[in-house]
Amino acid sequence: MYVWPSAVVLAQYLWKHREELRSRTVLELGAGASLPGVVAARCGAKVILSDSDTKPLTLQNCRRSCDANGLTEVQVLGLTWGDISPDLVLLPELDLILGSDVFYEPKDFEDVLVTVAFLLQKNPKAQFWTTYQERSADWSIEVLLHRWNLNCVDIHLETFDADKPDLAGSSLPGSHSIQMMIITLKKDDQRT
Ligand SMILES: C[S@@+](CC[C@H](N)C(=O)[O-])C[C@H]1O[C@@H](n2cnc3c(N)ncnc32)[C@H](O)[C@@H]1O
Repeated sequence: MYVWPSAVVLAQYLWKHREELRSRTVLELGAGASLPGVVAARCGAKVILSDSDTKPLTLQNCRRSCDANGLTEVQVLGLTWGDISPDLVLLPELDLILGSDVFYEPKDFEDVLVTVAFLLQKNPKAQFWTTYQERSADWSIEVLLHRWNLNCVDIHLETFDADKPDLAGSSLPGSHSIQMMIITLKKDDQRT
């Protein structure tokens, strides 16, 4: 039930873009305590929260976050990164995919991007909004983005007032270095 610092930054970005969220279908990957998904749902989005299929207690915590925030319509699904499971294939049309602090273990980076690439192929206009905590300067997803035909734009935190140690009443960002990116399909794939 730990809310990671990246979640607070992504929640701030969602709040700043709340007008765009109403009635949109949003999937959160690796949701954990689910702060971004909860904020999106409270802003009027139709939200599906997901976390690893192998972690029933985490999925239970996703549901508890919804209960604590009076959200009765949010669906919770077990989606393990890199698994093209029936639940992943049967998802409804998506407008937005969220992921906060899902790039924290290099061995999982490609699995996260396989899931994102699969979803963006099915929903070519959708975007993946993701925040991560810089834990090593040696880690990079650049080669993987190229391999999976994905485009990435860095969103500077100062553009949404998130370059602060305290954010929306939370001191979690502190001195952590948090980054945000928007990942989409490369243009040639968007046309097909
Ligand atoms: C660092 S936590 C971030 C949690 C939450 N997004 C936040 O920012 O507070 C990483 C999350 O990814 C989930 N996770 C780890 N491995 C996963 C996998 N293979 N597939 C799906 N989710 C996974 C964990 O259960 C956990 O909730």
